[in-house]
Amino acid sequence: MGFVDGRVVLVTGASSGIGLETSRELARRGAQVVMAARTRDRAEQALAEVSRVARTVGSPAPDLLLADLTDPTATAFLIQRVRSRYRRLHVLINNAGGFFAKRMVTAEGFEYTYALNVVAPIRLTLGLLGRLKKSRPARIINVASQAHAAGALDLDDLQMERGRYRGFVQYARSKTALILWTRTLADDLRTSGVTVNAVHPGWIKTGMGASNPPTATAAVFRFVTALLARPQIVGARGPSYLADDEQLAQTTGEYFFVTHRRPPAAHARDPEIAGRMLELGRSYDVRAADEREKK
Ligand SMILES: NC(=O)c1ccc[n+]([C@@H]2O[C@H](COP(=O)([O-])OP(=O)(O)OC[C@H]3O[C@@H](n4cnc5c(N)ncnc54)[C@H](OP(=O)(O)O)[C@@H]3O)[C@@H](O)[C@H]2O)c1
Repeated sequence: MGFVDGRVVLVTGASSGIGLETSRELARRGAQVVMAARTRDRAEQALAEVSRVARTVGSPAPDLLLADLTDPTATAFLIQRVRSRYRRLHVLINNAGGFFAKRMVTAEGFEYTYALNVVAPIRLTLGLLGRLKKSRPARIINVASQAHAAGALDLDDLQMERGRYRGFVQYARSKTALILWTRTLADDLRTSGVTVNAVHPGWIKTGMGASNPPTATAAVFRFVTALLARPQIVGARGPSYLADDEQLAQTTGEYFFVTHRRPPAAHARDPEIAGRMLELGRSYDVRAADEREKK
């Protein structure tokens, strides 16, 4: 029996790709899966698929909560609904993420990659931290990427406002930020009974980047992905391992390449930048966002 059996697990980006496969796998292992998703049609179809798995193995029926995680109000509402529906939350998997070839800015003013891959998981985690602590032992899993190796964080240009926007570099930097934040949050939570780790799920054939404009680079990327990337089901392996393996009970602040613990790139281990990231993260708390809106 693993850690998730009979426990409550929240998975973001659960409507497709790695999030859907992870939801399915954790339901199969006995978890009560709470699927957080954005697009209703895809999410309802995903819910039906995970429900089928849960029914077959006798796991609790999964739940679905809709929210656009780049919207602070929707995120605050999601946090509130999780808190009111679930007295316990044992695992949070921050999986929703994406790569955007064209620079976009959210209504709140964040560059979109940064908003979705960095601000959203930090915000959700901070909003649910109380519930996770109450449910200890609990685990937070941040889905990062080995692509982080291609982008050191520039604290003075987090949203790539200077020079030409390069989607892949911004994606890499966003995952570096997430790994740095994971490491310092782990230190912060050392005695809380809540662990936090980051995982690269592998190069997986999913819908990531499918909404980008059809440029020549995007076409080449899609072609190479179709040839070399692993099937979607393989993408669940890393997140499921981190959520469920009993031997990882004390493991925190680490980066995993699928199921192997590895040091991330040197720029994702810099303690000074990690400390700054932890500080910055506090300002993304929805309560801080509420304050900003009032001004
Ligand atoms: N695929 C790979 O090779 C690979 C490699 C390394 C890391 N990753 C990471 O794995 C994670 C999952 O990616 P994937 O490959 O499974 O991609 P995907 O199939 O595109 O799934 C992304 C998920 O995120 C959700 N999402 C996107 N924008 C959102 C928003 N604003 N609010 C809430 N949810 C939103 C999507 O929901 P909708 O259905 O509404 O679009 C979808 O469920 C990402 O963090 C990605 O960076 C992927």
